Amino acid sequence: MSKITKSAARERIEFLRNEINGHNYNYYVLNAPVISDFEFDLMLQELAALEKKFPEFASPDSPTVKVGSDIAKAPDGEAGERRPFEFATRTHRYPMLSLGNTYSREELSEFSDRISRTIQEECSYSCELKFDGTAICLTYRKGSLAYAVTRGDGVKGDDVTANVLTIPSIPRTLHGDYPEEFEIRGEIYMPFEAFNRLNAEREEIDERPFANPRNAASGSLKLQDSSEVASRGLACVLYHMLGENLPFTTHSEAIAAAKSWGLPVSEHSKVVGSIEEVNSYIDYWDQARRSLPFPIDGIVIKVNRLDWQRKLGFTAKSPRWATAYKFKPDRALTQLLSIDYQVGRTGAITPVANLDPVPLSGTVVKRASLHNKDQMDLLDIRIGDYVYVEKGGEIIPKITEVELSKRPAHAVVPDFPRYCPDCGAELVRDEGQAKHYCPNSNACPVQIKSGFVHFISRKAMDILAGEATIDQLYDKGYIRHLSDLYSLTKEQLLTLDGWKDRSAENLLASLEKSRSVPFNRVFYALGIRHVGEASAKMLAARFGSIDAIMAADRDTLVQIDEVGDVMADSIIRWFADPVNREQIEKLRQAGLKFEQEKTKKVSDTLSGGIFVVSGVFSVPRDEIKQLIESHGGKTTSSVSGHTSYLVAGEAPGAEKIKKAEKLGTRIISEEELRALVEPKE
Ligand code: IVH
Repeated sequence: MSKITKSAARERIEFLRNEINGHNYNYYVLNAPVISDFEFDLMLQELAALEKKFPEFASPDSPTVKVGSDIAKAPDGEAGERRPFEFATRTHRYPMLSLGNTYSREELSEFSDRISRTIQEECSYSCELKFDGTAICLTYRKGSLAYAVTRGDGVKGDDVTANVLTIPSIPRTLHGDYPEEFEIRGEIYMPFEAFNRLNAEREEIDERPFANPRNAASGSLKLQDSSEVASRGLACVLYHMLGENLPFTTHSEAIAAAKSWGLPVSEHSKVVGSIEEVNSYIDYWDQARRSLPFPIDGIVIKVNRLDWQRKLGFTAKSPRWATAYKFKPDRALTQLLSIDYQVGRTGAITPVANLDPVPLSGTVVKRASLHNKDQMDLLDIRIGDYVYVEKGGEIIPKITEVELSKRPAHAVVPDFPRYCPDCGAELVRDEGQAKHYCPNSNACPVQIKSGFVHFISRKAMDILAGEATIDQLYDKGYIRHLSDLYSLTKEQLLTLDGWKDRSAENLLASLEKSRSVPFNRVFYALGIRHVGEASAKMLAARFGSIDAIMAADRDTLVQIDEVGDVMADSIIRWFADPVNREQIEKLRQAGLKFEQEKTKKVSDTLSGGIFVVSGVFSVPRDEIKQLIESHGGKTTSSVSGHTSYLVAGEAPGAEKIKKAEKLGTRIISEEELRALVEPKE
């Protein structure tokens, strides 16, 4: 870019502004983006750099200027939507670990017994609320906030300093006698009042509300526009100080000092002298939490003396000196008004309860999943019944019990539909299966459309189109079967609402690019019921090609450890359908990959070795697996008696570690693995 002439710059700026405006329109207005977030961000960066270099071409209408406010209006934070901004990442000085947790008092006593065994003395604990938000790590240098970094993958996180500085309780500078440099970690959370206000605003302007205050907090923290972050009403509490040679002997002392320097800490922490008192603290807050103005999901118990903390140390994943006691989810009683039956991508019918809106853990619940007919029968649920709803930390609450004593005389037994609510086909239910299905997978509009949405999704073919585009293409009759996507023409695309040359070309280019998607993702993209991303990958690796999978009989399939009866039947049935076989041929003709590319063999050093890989590494986990395979080793997903090595990165799966320790399987680090395969100097 350094050599660009003025007139070329003007032309490029013009071009980029048009492109970006077009993409913003696709994304925000049509809800149908045709390029990835990454590509979008690259264009925006290029434009910003050019405008900086040639200030004479700056314009208040440029998307670099307007984008902040556009993005502020955009959906953010929730899965699958454009991440408005990429933050710089920063490596944590000390890894950000999580906490062990338990729902049982027994396990809590075991925790304290283990501690007593190590320290051989009566232990005092700091009992604290477990704030339900998103973790943050603040570094203060010479009394000023140097940076604020999210947990990220525990090793490195996003630098969100500018956004964190908008939170009123977080001081830019400290006062008093603070250390030269230290880190203090805590939680950014959203009080219920701010959360309910934010969601009400979002619903008013037809934006998807956040599922819970935790998502709202983490979504808000990652907004590009700091002034928008400022308006979100975030709060912060700090609960863990780290640094070299800090002058404290206990955790509570460190937190009290933090408070004296002006940092926000919890007012509800309490140091107690025994596990009995820990239990009373829990009993108290199990009730009192309902009147707190912010969400908590449990109690954190920490050994208070820092020398004891050091003595107890860490497991691979969490400190041995702290644990979290989690509360059972809260429940609320409300009336069941009606039941909708929704058709999913694979034709599964899910009954969804419409409820008399009821407040629960800070939000209002209107709908809940009833899962399937068995669940409805088990609950003996009737329309008009009073039911208990629970939130399990997830988006959709569930109905756990019917309050029979309140059953109205007129309560009606619900009629589970016999026919698909969407296409009218008679529903089927396989033996041993809980769900009813619409078998009409090749003709039921909801299933076809969601099959396309699955096909184009990031983890599948990664075709840059959205649900709205699929709807339009389907409604215009351009697509019925997956392969139709590859014969779409520019003329057809230009008939879509609001589509211009640019958007059509982008979609065609993205389809072209999808032809090189590796076989395992193509196989996943087909949307065979019960074949998820991991199973698709495993089957692709085992069989090597679609033809081999297609030729496999049921016995061959079920002999594979990871394949159960249900998956095997589903695969057999899918390939038995001539429509599907024809699709495979058409997609093959369109140039899609139906064969696995072999990992190049580099050596036989690891041949005969069976490896399980778990945790976060310096490179994506798949690369570690490829490294093993390229040296002749085999990788599997679970630790068993056959496993030779468990390769553990940062924060490996606790169960895997436990099992490996039990079986005496060798646990090695990434470095140790590399040392095994790399020639010695
Ligand atoms: S201490 C190494 N204290 O809960 C120990 N964590 O599930 C660091 N959390 O990662 C954590 N309130 O994000 C600690 N009073 C509290 C907490 C707390 C909430 C979060 C934190 C942690 C997660 C573990």
